[in-house]
Amino acid sequence: MPLILPPLSLYIHIPWCIRKCPYCDFNSHQANQEIPEQEYVAALRFDLEQDVTLAQGRKLASIFFGGGTPSMLSANAIKTILRDAQAIIGFTDDIEITLEANPGTFEQEKFSGFRAAGVNRLSIGIQSFNDKQLHHLGRVHNRDQALGAVAMARAAGFNNVNIDIMHGLPEQSVADAEADLTQAIALNPEHISWYQLTIEQNTAFYSAPPVLPEEDILADIQDAGLARLARAGYAQYEISAYAREKKRAQHNLNYWQFGDYLGIGAGAHSKITQPDQNRIMRMWKTRLPAHYLLAAQSQKISTTLSGHQNTFGGGSELLTAASLPLEFLMNILRLNEGAPTRYLNERTGLSLSALEPQWSALIEQKLVETEGQFLKTTSLGQRFLNRVLQQYTNQ
Ligand SMILES: C[S@@+](CC[C@H](N)C(=O)[O-])C[C@H]1O[C@@H](n2cnc3c(N)ncnc32)[C@H](O)[C@@H]1O
Ligand code: SF4
Repeated sequence: MPLILPPLSLYIHIPWCIRKCPYCDFNSHQANQEIPEQEYVAALRFDLEQDVTLAQGRKLASIFFGGGTPSMLSANAIKTILRDAQAIIGFTDDIEITLEANPGTFEQEKFSGFRAAGVNRLSIGIQSFNDKQLHHLGRVHNRDQALGAVAMARAAGFNNVNIDIMHGLPEQSVADAEADLTQAIALNPEHISWYQLTIEQNTAFYSAPPVLPEEDILADIQDAGLARLARAGYAQYEISAYAREKKRAQHNLNYWQFGDYLGIGAGAHSKITQPDQNRIMRMWKTRLPAHYLLAAQSQKISTTLSGHQNTFGGGSELLTAASLPLEFLMNILRLNEGAPTRYLNERTGLSLSALEPQWSALIEQKLVETEGQFLKTTSLGQRFLNRVLQQYTNQ
């Protein structure tokens, strides 16, 4: 069966932060001087124009401003970017537009400006409400600013707010982790992302590791947190994502359901299905902000001279048939409900037999199931997701 075009999302990367956090391996760079906002907004527009044919007639189902710290941009810049995206590709009627905001990087007026510009979901990076922890984590904000950020979001008219909280923090007890969640829940957000801290290479924490809680404490934190979130009406639908009814993150859901996305901005990735060529492509833009801005400049010149297009100094690759089972499963199996079986065929071109013989063996081991036309992990498989995916790593 031919591939079918899935929904299309747009990711917009804003690569600057006030200060680099010691645990963070995202493509984010400390801004030591004023960020080149106008130049970057112009480069984003040019980047999207180059990619417009990849939309293949689709309108955008969601947009996500991620970072870095998108809330360092002015409301006017966000307005311009959204106006450009609407003019170049267009929006579906119920588009979700999320912006990541860090407490301490905005004031009320800016939040109201983001809302007026068309942003309809805010994702606030709080991490912890404990001042000592926030200091350990190198954050620029404190507890009061975190509480203030949520109040400002509500005052600006946002009725769809996510709060990011991390757990398993240096020397954290079960009671500390629960206290963070209790405070988050008391603010009544529509969505909570609850991540376990991981120590990533090329971070300050990797070079000088902090003392993290023991395995059994981490397991207790996980159990206590899950129960607390469930009691408060936040249903887990992905490893780290919890939502009130009908408030799942549409943008992230599209990634996890193996939908398509365009990525613009420094280091942004795209995944695009091309049914007419029976293939799925990945593309990425050059990573460093200065190189990205330069690439925008030089492409403008080369495009004007020769009509030539490329990928902002980044690269591209085709997803091979051999890599597709893992690519598909590592996304859809993150979701508690998995994904409809037909997506395998529609979104990868593979049939169920391409998952064999491993899938049947995993069913035997009660790690996965094919239930009601869905491919999914069992609750045991959720806990051992790496073991499940390992079956598809060396194909
Ligand atoms: C793209 S990041 C940055 C968002 C925003 N700049 C901030 O820091 O608040 C999104 C979220 O990933 C989580 N995160 C970042 N690094 C992490 C790590 N090493 N381990 C676990 N979660 C992490 C944090 O909760 C963060 O809010
Ligand atoms: S503010 Fe967010 S993106 Fe920036 S360095 Fe810290 S965790 Fe990374």
